[in-house]
Amino acid sequence: MKTEKSDNLEKKIKKNIYGKPQSVKVVFPPGLGSVALHEVETILEDLWFKQKYISQCSLLKNEIRIDNIHLFAITELLMRSQCLTDIRLIIFKGKTAGKSIFEKKSREMNWDFYLNKNMSVKIKVDSVASRAFHETGLKEILSDVVKEYVSDIVSGEDAHETTVIYADLYKDKLTMSISLAGNQLYKRGYRGTLSASAPLREDAAACCIQQSLQFVKRSAAYLSPCGRGRRAAAGEGCYAEVPFISHQGRHENTLTNPQGEKEKLIYATTPRSDTQFVVDTVLIPFSGTGTFLFEYLQMAFRFSPALIGRDYALQKMPLFRQENFNFLLKKAKECCLFPPALFSTNRPTFFCIDNSKTANAALLDNIQFFKNAVSEQGFDFPAQLFIENDQPVHEDDFFKLDLLKWMNAHNQPRGNVFIPLNPPYGIRLGKNKDSVALYKNIAMKLNEIARLIQKEQKNVLGFILCPSEETWSAFCKVLICSETETYHFTQGGIDIRVCQFIM
Ligand SMILES: C[S@@+](CC[C@H](N)C(=O)[O-])C[C@H]1O[C@@H](n2cnc3c(N)ncnc32)[C@H](O)[C@@H]1O
Repeated sequence: MKTEKSDNLEKKIKKNIYGKPQSVKVVFPPGLGSVALHEVETILEDLWFKQKYISQCSLLKNEIRIDNIHLFAITELLMRSQCLTDIRLIIFKGKTAGKSIFEKKSREMNWDFYLNKNMSVKIKVDSVASRAFHETGLKEILSDVVKEYVSDIVSGEDAHETTVIYADLYKDKLTMSISLAGNQLYKRGYRGTLSASAPLREDAAACCIQQSLQFVKRSAAYLSPCGRGRRAAAGEGCYAEVPFISHQGRHENTLTNPQGEKEKLIYATTPRSDTQFVVDTVLIPFSGTGTFLFEYLQMAFRFSPALIGRDYALQKMPLFRQENFNFLLKKAKECCLFPPALFSTNRPTFFCIDNSKTANAALLDNIQFFKNAVSEQGFDFPAQLFIENDQPVHEDDFFKLDLLKWMNAHNQPRGNVFIPLNPPYGIRLGKNKDSVALYKNIAMKLNEIARLIQKEQKNVLGFILCPSEETWSAFCKVLICSETETYHFTQGGIDIRVCQFIM
């Protein structure tokens, strides 16, 4: 039976949380902010549960700030996004000069909206250029305030907290936020075994795939019949002298741009019949535990991460609304493309290859987990999703892959091929000299693949993660392609260059 106290709390939550627009801090994999922003905007433009607010999104150095957003829209982002790491609800923002004011403001906050005795929390304080505050002292004050609302306050890497409260101070400006994800969003749950294959984080893998699909879209625009061009040598890694190897043929022209400068343009004589690059085959060399495979599957089949069955800290909070969550789960299922009638046309086939027994065993376990998650939602995991269906991962050396055999497997055309590459790098590979040789060999193998694919009037799209300038440069020099584009992100403290290519 509801008590008067809980009735009052409900009313306060309704008024202050659901009756007012909120603000959030969105965290993304370091360096991948623009693609994460693109995903946020795409979801907000097409919400399953429409909101009455027009949200403002701004990309800051390490976060995306979204203002004027309804909590239901925030929940939807949490459940649908693949590129985000965390979403933190801003619970206080204001000037806080001095420790005693900090304590006063902390005590005045409506902690009972966010916390209860079924939760344990971690507190993280980050104080920059602040006169009045010392991180440890602040943490003590906040712990003292919050402890009566929760079961436990924990600390340390191995702690299993329900959520994290963040107090970020810059000079006298304090922002307090609480993680709605709890366990970070890249922990989707499908990756049971963390093997020695040093997997890429799921959110970073999703960002790289999205970037690549955006890259080919921009290029498709350039190849479109309206004759728009792209500067041939623009940006890092673009080689104007490399012939445009494509069934469309190569044309060069010099035009004057709106600023009156001459621009050298390269464009195709025969435009693609459709400007969309439809992926027919996904080839994943160095597949490891399968992060690219699962992230691509989720994207292509619109299988929202929430359907994999993980929990969010939000679900434990007093402000949580089960009906809205259930509605969003129902929508996620309705939008999913796993039902056979929806995926029978234009669905890609997959081919994973890795020479490690351990990595392949982990991948097979993960595939089984993913299949179970799909069937728990009442869908059948598509038959013939893999080129060698009885064997989802091919245990072999990528460089020894018999391409003619691969091209003709099951008498099915390979079509346009998408190749995401995360080769072994860093400490595992040993010397830099070996890495450079590896990256050259990969480029040569890709050239061979592209030659065969182009004979069939199709193209190769892909990207490769390079751990150093040398590997990146060796790869770009050997690769014969029509267009490349490079961007950077950080993974485990290493600056990774991602070379995207179209061949
Ligand atoms: C960086 S890991 C890839 C991690 C993967 N992205 C994931 O999510 O797990 C590199 C993988 O390449 C595999 N590998 C190394 N040399 C190979 C080769 N010559 N042919 C095929 N696979 C290879 C390793 O076994 C390892 O699983």
